[in-house]
Amino acid sequence: MSDMRTWVAEFDKQLTDAENISRNAGLKPVTEPVQNVIISGLGGSGIGGTIVSELAKLHSPVPVTVNKDYFCPAFVGPHTLFIASSYSGNTEETLQCTEEAFRKGARVVVITSGGRLQQIAAEKGFDCIVVPGGYHPRACLGYSLFQLLGIFIHYNLLPPVFEEYRSGLAAFIRENESALQAKGKELALFLKDSIPVLYAESHLEGVTIRLRQQINENAKMLCWHHVIPEMNHNELVGWRNTNNNLAVVFITDPDGYYRNRERTQYCINVVKKYTQRYTELSASGSNPLQKVFSLIHTGDWASIYLSELNGVDAMEIDVIHTLKSTLADLK
Ligand code: F6R
Repeated sequence: MSDMRTWVAEFDKQLTDAENISRNAGLKPVTEPVQNVIISGLGGSGIGGTIVSELAKLHSPVPVTVNKDYFCPAFVGPHTLFIASSYSGNTEETLQCTEEAFRKGARVVVITSGGRLQQIAAEKGFDCIVVPGGYHPRACLGYSLFQLLGIFIHYNLLPPVFEEYRSGLAAFIRENESALQAKGKELALFLKDSIPVLYAESHLEGVTIRLRQQINENAKMLCWHHVIPEMNHNELVGWRNTNNNLAVVFITDPDGYYRNRERTQYCINVVKKYTQRYTELSASGSNPLQKVFSLIHTGDWASIYLSELNGVDAMEIDVIHTLKSTLADLK
């Protein structure tokens, strides 16, 4: 059956399939090291880039930039690894940027299920990893993230141990499925009829944005997020008036940096003066990928339960489709 709930329930199977696709990707050998990396993609196809760039921050010898725009940064050139991620293969911003990166001599790798991007990759001889079609892009984060991890390991931007972490993830999700789903349900009940406010330590910003996007698209709700420490230097001052419509989630990592943990505790103490609705969502697992995926999967379940509580169809995103066709008609 094709529906958002089933896709979330079958996430472990997606991860197993995604790993096989990555192992058989047949990427061209790395003949000379790259000097910078761009990951270009929007929405459900862009968020994997944000998450992988955070994971790579402590490991990659070269800068990794996430690009969610029509244009490439000026530094893109022959020493750039340019990764284009578009599930449909037809997202205009990603297509335009990919053409520009090609013109500037970048090495291009594509992740897609088809569309124009796959055609361009075939015409120009790019490495092209094809993932299964028939999903909605936001339901395919396992596919896109696993391909990005494979590309990063191939280019020595992440250490080989990440391959082991990745191999164990499907089993980790399977073994923890009922606990992660239950946490998601609890979170949905907490967020119902609220404006969710998500605060996370900055190394978890990607998964926090993912939760925001899932709440937007699946549950049809507005939501905002910010990160610690940056929000300690501005947004924290905005907490001055009681507002029980705001439901605040502190997304935490038990092994996070001790100074950020202290900051989080301080923020909780400020926020609880102004709303009764605050909670903590803590990452579980023993390695960086387990932590990230425990949060992604809990958040995905939360968005499914929220859509059901709100009585809306998690699959429907008509306004995005209408916008895309309006733009397609613009010459
Ligand atoms: C739809 C979704 C959107 C798309 C975005 C880009 O499920 O999540 O955010 O991911 O509009 O489209 P693609 O992924 O086809 O490049």
